[in-house]
Amino acid sequence: MSHIRAVINLDAVRHNTARLIELAQGAGVMAVVKANAYGHGILPVARAAIEAGATWLGVAQLDEAVELAAKLEPHRGNTRILAWLYHPEADFAGAVAAGVDLAVSSLTGLDGIGQAIERTQPSRTNAANPTSATTPARVHLKLDTGLGRAGAPGSQWPDLVKAALRLQSEGLIVIEGVWSHFAYADDPGNPTIAGQITAFEAGIELARSLGARFKVRHLANSAALATALPVTYDLVRPGLALYGLSPIPQVASASELGLVGAMALESYLSLVKPVPGGQGLSYGHSYITPRDTITGIVPVGYADGLFRSASNHGPVRVGGRNLAVAGRICMDQFVLDLGLGALDQAGDRVVLFGPGLDGEPTVQDWADAAGTIAYEITTRLPGQIERYYVGRGTSGGRLL
Ligand SMILES: Cc1ncc(COP(=O)(O)O)c(C=O)c1O
Repeated sequence: MSHIRAVINLDAVRHNTARLIELAQGAGVMAVVKANAYGHGILPVARAAIEAGATWLGVAQLDEAVELAAKLEPHRGNTRILAWLYHPEADFAGAVAAGVDLAVSSLTGLDGIGQAIERTQPSRTNAANPTSATTPARVHLKLDTGLGRAGAPGSQWPDLVKAALRLQSEGLIVIEGVWSHFAYADDPGNPTIAGQITAFEAGIELARSLGARFKVRHLANSAALATALPVTYDLVRPGLALYGLSPIPQVASASELGLVGAMALESYLSLVKPVPGGQGLSYGHSYITPRDTITGIVPVGYADGLFRSASNHGPVRVGGRNLAVAGRICMDQFVLDLGLGALDQAGDRVVLFGPGLDGEPTVQDWADAAGTIAYEITTRLPGQIERYYVGRGTSGGRLL
């Protein structure tokens, strides 16, 4: 077996999708599968989410979205894909041909898209073939309502809407959606939340007064759904909750939100040996054995995505008990103090995290141990680590 494997439960993804559909209260669900589905593997997760009723997929990087569109055939059906980050001279025509909707935050972005679509017009490139008509780009205009990240600032919003209406009248784009993103949805009651909702609605109203019509308005992420903010509109964009992780761990755990963790991370003991009391373990000897004991080596380290900051804290389950990493997490291994008289043997299974249903630590426990957020624990797992899929539609770790 490989030294580490992430076991991805696609039934959990389906369950979480169904739960999010419930929380969406009639709005469509865009499963956010960016960053290789938060490390879970984009294609299997996308397929499971679609099977469970997600009607949209959200991806940050345009190239990841185009690749997903290609891989998803023939399972895509009517599922729409939105991408929101790209180079200003990206292959927009290719993205449109792949059926990917594009987020637009600026006139520069809009112009780039308009020009790319214009270049595909039959009159310019293919007058001999009357059947090849231009396909307009479907765009979602993004308003920065206060996150201070992407999105047009309020000062540029009217011009962006007007320019989009112009390109729409020329047949180069179709204005599909309007959207924004919260800064503090994970902090219920934070005053910026109400301010962002007000700014979003004012932005929509202004756009409407200029003549824009939107098929989908979307604002809610996982935290907005978990805290039941009244912002489901036509579409919601949950990511973290899809993977069974709580976006508000200080308020409600994943299980309290009705979610099931989709990823488990497993390894094994590669070496078990006796060590005397008073022995420092691993680099820097930040852990000293308090007595004679038995140690175990787990062949997983920060090269495998573990956080070195979880040294001396990262929890694992071995032999039916939970232990913490003893000493520093190294590049490829860490040590456990198994205790005097431990019966563990080389080859025994070690679970770093899982859904927590059998007492094993969770992704959130690792996030707490590392001083980070659950998002970072799963997305930092290198792509080359084995993903072993279980649940309906899989066999031997793979999708059928
Ligand atoms: C624009 C946008 N929408 C939605 C999401 C999903 O957020 P979450 O994973 O918190 O649900 C993200 C992820 O950060 C995002 O960047």
